[in-house]
Amino acid sequence: MAGSDKQTAVRALQLAEVERISILGSESIVCGFHLADYMWTDIFSSLAAASTYVLVTDSNLAALYLDKYRESFGVAWAHLRAGAAAPRLLTYVLAPGETSKSRATKSEIEDWMFGERCTRDTLVLALGGGVIGDLVGYVAATFMRGVGFVQVPTSLLAMVDSSIGGKTAVDTAAGKNLVGAFWQPQRIFMDMAVLSTLPAREFSNGMAEVIKTAAIWDAAEFDVLEASADEVRRAVLTGGGSAGLTLATRTAEQRMLQRVIAASARVKAHVVTHDERETGLRGLLNFGHTIGHAIEAQLAPAVLHGECVAVGCVLEAEVARRMGHLGEVSVARLARCLRAYGLPTAMDDPLLCALVGKAQLRERLQPQRLMDVMRVDKKNVGTQKRVVVLARLGATLEPKPTNVDDALILEVISRGVLVRPAPGTAAAAAVVVTPPGSKSISNRALQMAALGQGTCRIRNLLHSDDTQVMLAALQAMGGCSIAWEDDGATLVVHGGGGQLHMPPADVYLGNAGTAARFLATTANLINAGSSAAGSSTVLTGNARMKQRPCAPLVDALRANGCDIEYVEREGSLPLRVGHAAGRGFPGGHIQLAASVSSQYVSSILLCAPYAQEPVRLELVGGKVISQPYIDMTVAMMAQFGCAVQRVAANEYIVPRGAYRNPSEYVVESDASSATYPLAFAAITGGQCTVPNIGSASLQGDARFAVDVLRPMGCTVEQTATSTTVRGPPRGALRALGDIDMEPMTDAFLTAAVLAAVATGGGGVTRIRGIANQHVKECDRIVAMRDELARFGVECLDHADGIDVHARALAELCSAVPPSVHCYDDHRVAMSFSVLASAAPSGAEIRERRCVGKTWPQWWDVLARDLGAGVSGADPAEEAEELGSPAPALSTVIVGMRGVGKSTLGRAAARALGLAFVDMDEELERVVGKTIPQIIAADGWDAFRAHETRLLELALTRDFAAATVVACGGGVVEAEANRALLLRHIARGGAVVCLTPNMQHVAAFLARDATRPAYAAGDAHDVYERRRELYAACSNYELLVDASLPHADWSAIERAFVRLVGFATGARANRVDLTRPSHFVSLTAPDVATYAPARLAAIVAGAHAVELRVDLLEAMAGSESADAAVLVADVFRQFSILRAVSPLPIVFTVRTAAQGGAFAGSDSLRLRLLRAAVRWGAEYVDAEVDAHAPALYSERGRSLVIASFHDPTGTRLRWGRSEFAAEMLQRARACGDIAKLISFAHTWDDNIACREFVDRHHSAATPLIALNMGYTGQMSRVLCPVLTPVTHPLLAAAAAPGQITVAQINQARAIAGLLPTRRFALCGSPIAHSPSPAMHNAGFAALGLPHSYGLCEATEAQLLMPALFDSPDFGGASVTIPLKESVIPLMSALTPAARRIGAVNTVIRTAGASASATTSSLLGDNTDYLGIVGCLTRASSPANSAATASALVVGAGGTARAAIYALHSLGIRTVLVYNRTKSRADSLVADFADLFDSLTVIDKLSDAVVPTVIIGTVPACDLLFPDELFAGRCGVALDMAYKPRWTPLLEAAKRHEWSVVPGVDVLIEQGIHQFEKWTHATPPTAAMSEAVHAKYDANF
Ligand SMILES: NC(=O)c1ccc[n+]([C@@H]2O[C@H](COP(=O)([O-])OP(=O)(O)OC[C@H]3O[C@@H](n4cnc5c(N)ncnc54)[C@H](O)[C@@H]3O)[C@@H](O)[C@H]2O)c1
Ligand SMILES: [Zn+2]
Repeated sequence: MAGSDKQTAVRALQLAEVERISILGSESIVCGFHLADYMWTDIFSSLAAASTYVLVTDSNLAALYLDKYRESFGVAWAHLRAGAAAPRLLTYVLAPGETSKSRATKSEIEDWMFGERCTRDTLVLALGGGVIGDLVGYVAATFMRGVGFVQVPTSLLAMVDSSIGGKTAVDTAAGKNLVGAFWQPQRIFMDMAVLSTLPAREFSNGMAEVIKTAAIWDAAEFDVLEASADEVRRAVLTGGGSAGLTLATRTAEQRMLQRVIAASARVKAHVVTHDERETGLRGLLNFGHTIGHAIEAQLAPAVLHGECVAVGCVLEAEVARRMGHLGEVSVARLARCLRAYGLPTAMDDPLLCALVGKAQLRERLQPQRLMDVMRVDKKNVGTQKRVVVLARLGATLEPKPTNVDDALILEVISRGVLVRPAPGTAAAAAVVVTPPGSKSISNRALQMAALGQGTCRIRNLLHSDDTQVMLAALQAMGGCSIAWEDDGATLVVHGGGGQLHMPPADVYLGNAGTAARFLATTANLINAGSSAAGSSTVLTGNARMKQRPCAPLVDALRANGCDIEYVEREGSLPLRVGHAAGRGFPGGHIQLAASVSSQYVSSILLCAPYAQEPVRLELVGGKVISQPYIDMTVAMMAQFGCAVQRVAANEYIVPRGAYRNPSEYVVESDASSATYPLAFAAITGGQCTVPNIGSASLQGDARFAVDVLRPMGCTVEQTATSTTVRGPPRGALRALGDIDMEPMTDAFLTAAVLAAVATGGGGVTRIRGIANQHVKECDRIVAMRDELARFGVECLDHADGIDVHARALAELCSAVPPSVHCYDDHRVAMSFSVLASAAPSGAEIRERRCVGKTWPQWWDVLARDLGAGVSGADPAEEAEELGSPAPALSTVIVGMRGVGKSTLGRAAARALGLAFVDMDEELERVVGKTIPQIIAADGWDAFRAHETRLLELALTRDFAAATVVACGGGVVEAEANRALLLRHIARGGAVVCLTPNMQHVAAFLARDATRPAYAAGDAHDVYERRRELYAACSNYELLVDASLPHADWSAIERAFVRLVGFATGARANRVDLTRPSHFVSLTAPDVATYAPARLAAIVAGAHAVELRVDLLEAMAGSESADAAVLVADVFRQFSILRAVSPLPIVFTVRTAAQGGAFAGSDSLRLRLLRAAVRWGAEYVDAEVDAHAPALYSERGRSLVIASFHDPTGTRLRWGRSEFAAEMLQRARACGDIAKLISFAHTWDDNIACREFVDRHHSAATPLIALNMGYTGQMSRVLCPVLTPVTHPLLAAAAAPGQITVAQINQARAIAGLLPTRRFALCGSPIAHSPSPAMHNAGFAALGLPHSYGLCEATEAQLLMPALFDSPDFGGASVTIPLKESVIPLMSALTPAARRIGAVNTVIRTAGASASATTSSLLGDNTDYLGIVGCLTRASSPANSAATASALVVGAGGTARAAIYALHSLGIRTVLVYNRTKSRADSLVADFADLFDSLTVIDKLSDAVVPTVIIGTVPACDLLFPDELFAGRCGVALDMAYKPRWTPLLEAAKRHEWSVVPGVDVLIEQGIHQFEKWTHATPPTAAMSEAVHAKYDANF
């Protein structure tokens, strides 16, 4: 059309009104809305003419904006150069995303430009986000040595950051942005209208940089950002349409958006102008990036740059605070502002958890990993890390980044904190500490200052969400104006004298309870003027707030004549307060019910001076709660010039008047917080003054110094407004005897840690009156008991208190600092940090951040002001912290009577630490009759009605969580019960159906007399009737058939435990995808052919096992067979496999089209895959097709491997093939793990495959990719995770080219992908140890290049230079005499090793990056695992753990492991014998808390009939008296293996006990070691044969 219709009128130009920003001396940044016409016009008229315009963009933006820019190009040209031939406009569209920012894409664009014959007079435009800008800028910088370049940033990040400054780059394997150039764009066009299509997360991403820039540069701008979050977000959301083209059409929000963006861009432009090449000033823009980048390196691409920087900003602000340069107020404001724009602010932020998963997050953000990344930061000077240190919001400490010690950074990014005792000298000095302001006093002061007359400077105000909300609301009501001074340390309130106006919008109070109560009265003071008719103010809050009560207050106000109505729910916010003219707050006589909250009383009192009549407030309705808070209000009102008279116990008179603001008001510190520094002085023998709490204080906890510390032996000097405490010499605190702490319950934790070391005066402190502390943030009484136990301090907990039995300070000593669990409770953390400051070995406080609730800077104070040693700690995980914090919903079992519901349920409950309930028993208990009696007396219907009622109560209340619930067999018969079960499933619970072998069940029922009998033969009919019902209301299924090969009853029990563990998520049994892993494909037609022993050999080295359903005999003829029969056959095969192997199962039905053998229908295949999810297959392989999305959405806890196989290797090609990219995308849309398999035609296909993997695989988005065929073998070697493997013992490989784990390991070793590691046994004497033979045989069997030798040493210190420090060190076994002395050399201990207090296994854990030479040593203990395994196998069922008792001989490191093992086995009565009794005593002291009875005996004959005896003494020559073996069916285990028959074993054998020789334990613990070192299933047979070969030859 262009040719023929030349004369057609061109549409009018739409030239935007723009704002220009200067950079490097020219006004080349253009901001506005709808810039396309303006842009081309500007380019054609102001920039050098070009022959070709090349516009590069990505496909997202192309779809949205490319046509517009093309059209505009023509229009602008026609207007400017009518008649002249238009230059060329070429466009190039790339895939979106960071992967496009590569050298390959750059060459691709360049080659295309050469093809298009572009010349030096080309102008290149980048339309897109930072990816396009960086990449295309680099093309422009180097194309023919540089051509003209224009940026058209479309993401917020690109606008305020990446487009400005001329930095261009591409990513390489070595890292991001490592290759590039400085190349300034000639223009930058920021069209803010396009932000309306930017995804919300991307918008937040850019806001991180905007907030960062304001934080380092411009305090005023920061204030604006802080106050305008809603407005700015609205501007973006509503930015569409043509609004904004001209100033006249620009909305208020658009103006705000432009203001904010332009301001940020201007700072960046300014900095670039003054420091183009980043020599100093420009480094400031890296605020938040030192730590942010390290986080990004771990979490990208799941988490965006700006999200990581947001967290980095907060953490770096905390570094500044820790260094003493920045106040907590600023840190809190920064975090709050980032959150307001949808950004995360902490390393465990819920946003990050949602993106990465909690466990992954924790794993990847290990502090040491982050430090490793920071070590190679470009910004470092040598090894010195540099951080931009804020001096306040809007200014930095230096005009460049500041050198910061590693230790400080490490501390801030750590989860835990290690507190070391304060040196005597530091503690002796007198210190002054001002804890944060009291919340109650802060809120009252704000309210009165706002209503008062004159200006008040409030100091030490608490900055919390509560006070923030209060302040914002009071400002919105025009009650006052405010300003901050001294970096936020002082709030200046210009009081409004009680003249309140109607706020412009609803007042949002979040979940700030105090603010809501206070303001409910305040809002009645609003004077809406003459236009008052119908005007009102709405007070509202978040969902939680909308449930909190406020009815007594509202009732009282209404009765007084106030116009208040509930907008939603009766009795709660939102409230609408009407402002009919002249109404206000009438005053006079007011009656108020004050038994629920004293805040109602304070609310009325605080506003009372402004009522129209003097107020007489009468408190009615029972005992007034929290009188001290009412006293506080009255006292503070006096300080603001208003005298309240208390005329009777519950009656107050408030005269009319106005508050007169004092010029300065210092908010008293929080008295509960003040107990910690004061207690610090008490325990360390130092002196501490809290300058603003004294005897005049109205806070209950203010009495702590006088009532608790003075009687404990401290010198306390108290004035009306200050308190000074001087502690007695260390270790000289006196116990309190009985003390009632009712008036200061929150301070009991502080008292308890002092009492723990107060050995003077009887040494026992009994704290009472604190019953409410059972139900605070955690059960604090139990928490104190359990955590003090870690220091060896004994406590007894009571309903209303706790008894603490002190232990001498010096005796708290232990080799490893105790690790204190804080239950996320700030008070637990702070009180234990006080104890740690004096305990000889200090202590680890596991959750550092929980102090944020009241005193975020506590650790700074503890280190800087008080002088304790404080450093970061990375506590090892404890069982209770794994998994989700909320206990999983209960698991319900349904199935025929007699199938084993109770037996299995009990077994699972025991193994998984759950409760168990049998609903039939429960029903009999509740009703008080047996079931046959109920049915006989009341009939079946009555019975079913009871059953339904109880089931409902059980699933919703009594046993809703953490329980295994076994239902009666007929539960599914009633419709109501089925609905209850389905609802349980819908909520995320598990209902497991036990599928019986009906022959067994019928036989069992015939013998059972406790339940109404079925008529002969009926059981089968009943089952037929119920079968469908069971299936319909369950989501898991277990086959209970002991007649299957290898599936005896104990295997069924194991299978059930595993299924429940899986269904509840407690033991998900998943493969670790952060390191190479393999699964072995079983190809036999019948799984029963794999005897357990053979299968153990087959799976050695693997991490999962694949059930190839299509290869099963059962599938032959699947086209015609009955589907139900087929599925049942496969279920049996699945069950056998689960009985013989604990490894996760990959369930696969491979179709013929994709190289498998399945020839059945799609519906049968789908039915099988769904069944696999029901059976609890950990992984289900689903081929990518039309059914895959449905299966994916029903996958429950199974993970779907979405696979596509091209057995021909013709369609799926790895080079830049669209097909491969598309299949990957589709696989990711319907799978947790993608699997793409091709066929290699040439060897180079392996390289291409590997490159594809490099581009697309990460632990978060795993990809299995390889080539079939002989030529493709190398791609299997290089496959990153879950490589399918075969084994020589298998008849056939599952696919052409499949190789073994050993072959893969050998190839990886040769290829340089699996470095050789050195392992050794450390100890003495060890010359004859079979360990080297065992481990070397294991390495050989798996093709691993490692070696295991001996390192004879009697001193642990020698091990560092000899072994641990060597770069190829892989791990070590530790034996006598080093098991305990090696502990100080470890960087961390596992919970087991820590509890046992001995290490027998050293594991080298590598640093984060492969290149990092740093590594750390993890100390573990597998001795106890060896004992547990051997005892479990040898024990007779006659001796259950509950009745068993054990004798341990010896008291060294091995004995400690033995005791821990006995505890793991559930044995609760243990005796200990040792030649040197004192050693036994100290052992018993360490473990007493784990047992009902743990006692030392003087001589062996004192032992009474143990059922288990464990010997731990090498070369033991003791005489074991015959009486010891009087118990029947006992087990004796000797850890010593020289000689084979030790005196213990000889004696046991004589008495026909089971015996476990030491060599068996040696093998078992060694197998566990091997697994921990290699992260692979150990080749157990090879290892144990090697030991026996050596051992039998020697002994
Ligand atoms: N050169 C520098 O100084 C500098 C500074 C900071 C960051 N960067 C680089 O910038 C890159 C990140 O930039 P980014 O955050 O803009 O990511 P991006 O370029 O990947 O864009 C984010 C996503 O948003 C889409 N998008 C962008 N604008 C849109 C719009 N208006 N409407 C709809 N969709 C839109 C994109 O297609 C993309 O999918 C990184 O590579 C980083 O290294 C460079
Ligand atoms: Zn950045």
